[in-house]
Amino acid sequence: MGEPRIPDPALVVLVGASGSGKSTWAARRYRAVEVVSSDHLRGIVGSGPADLDASTDAFEVLELVVRARTGRGLTTVVDTLGLDETRRLSWLGAARQAGLPAVAVVVEADAALCRRRNADRDRPVPAPVLARQLRGAAEVAPRLEAEGWDLVLRVSADTDPATGGGTRVGGSTAAPSPAAPVRRLPLVLQLSAFPWGEDPAGWLTAMALAAQQAGFAGLALMDHLIQIPQVGRAWDPLPEPFTVLGLLAGAAPGLELGTLVTPVTFRPAGVLAKTLATLDVLSGGRAFCGLGTGWWEREHAAYGLAFPPARERLDALDAAAETLRALWAPGTKAYSGGRVSLPETTLYPRPVSAIPLIIGGGGEQRTLRIAARWGDACNLTTSDADVVAHKAEVLRRHCVELDRDPGEVGVTVLDLPVLGTDRDAVASAVERLRGRTPAATFTRRHQAGLPEDHTRRYAALADIGVGRVFVGIQGLRGPEDLEPWRRVTEALG
Ligand code: CTP
Ligand code: MG
Repeated sequence: MGEPRIPDPALVVLVGASGSGKSTWAARRYRAVEVVSSDHLRGIVGSGPADLDASTDAFEVLELVVRARTGRGLTTVVDTLGLDETRRLSWLGAARQAGLPAVAVVVEADAALCRRRNADRDRPVPAPVLARQLRGAAEVAPRLEAEGWDLVLRVSADTDPATGGGTRVGGSTAAPSPAAPVRRLPLVLQLSAFPWGEDPAGWLTAMALAAQQAGFAGLALMDHLIQIPQVGRAWDPLPEPFTVLGLLAGAAPGLELGTLVTPVTFRPAGVLAKTLATLDVLSGGRAFCGLGTGWWEREHAAYGLAFPPARERLDALDAAAETLRALWAPGTKAYSGGRVSLPETTLYPRPVSAIPLIIGGGGEQRTLRIAARWGDACNLTTSDADVVAHKAEVLRRHCVELDRDPGEVGVTVLDLPVLGTDRDAVASAVERLRGRTPAATFTRRHQAGLPEDHTRRYAALADIGVGRVFVGIQGLRGPEDLEPWRRVTEALG
């Protein structure tokens, strides 16, 4: 059995006698800089970890570190005996003040083991002191639950330190990680930045092949005329998506290919129908179409395109979706519907599949209604499970009102994650990418974490009915950055 999941970021206070294995437990789970240890600080401000004369100074520094780190929302593991109630409660207070979950971890080891380990040290703790610590630890453990910790964990130093095996004994947050089998959920790589160096086509092809090998079901491209400020600089290269998708249709035979999303303001809807039908034919039925209203005034002005007010763009989205449906439908007969009339619907080559139409946006009155009327899915730009569940319900109601089977209209989400294969890699990616955003804010915003963290989040989305996640990996440099995602795609596959 694994340890119950410890919230992250969090303040984690270790409790246990000398030699119980506290430092060992912390070192297996946290980066060295995340652990603030009174022993370590005695070695810095004094002659060594057991220089008890340096305790006052060491604790002064420790308090400063705890306040500084928790104040920045950074995970902080306090590695002391943890037996002093006044200190313990002041750390708990620091966590509360910073809005961080507070976790107490009792490291249990039998007395004989602690004594043996103690005897092996350069400066063993005197036997009566160790005896007092052991008694103290036994007394403190049951009291922790009443102190108000969000989670109290008991871990045993006798168990394999790599796999843990802890027991949750109290607290109010952090449900144990479920071992339930994970539902299948396809992930589609969304590319928004193109650091392709001297070989654009080679880079794009390599990315598509690496995405396929890493288990992604497809590849989606943004559709913008100038790189958007959320992603890069205006002079960064940003290719026209359908040209790229045509290249990739030949290069990566297993990927679904499409846009997320194409603004209806860029191309007349009929031309878009033609382009996508061609992409579908060239890719053997792997095209999908993300469609939205467009939002960035600047690129429209720069390219001489009209950018009407939101209401008109929503009307245009409605009409464009209707036009796509009309032109992709079999036959060539005239079409006349709500917003669109066409004297004929002659489009050859016909799409070889039913091209999925994904309406971008979560606007509850209009966008989700357009998705309910014409779409195969709506795409939300949040992975917050509560928001997703709410929008899914609004979409379902629109479907019912429009007499559409709600089962025919799915929900997809665009997620913008940071992944690292271990805690050091996560921290260094955050430092590389965060710009001026504080690390804790950036980490939260982009859910920076390990493969299993993303797997857990996506599994939770699958459980509330999300059918596909578009993964806009942050800071993607090249094909090698995709390999670690295999662990996520395999877990969800
Ligand atoms: N140890 C071990 N197996 C464990 C845990 C600890 O072999 N599962 C060993 C460590 O390698 C170390 C000793 O036991 O040599 C004491 O562990 P440590 O983590 O240093 O104990 P602490 O609780 O941190 O002791 P102190 O309060 O003295 O710092
Ligand atoms: Mg220690």
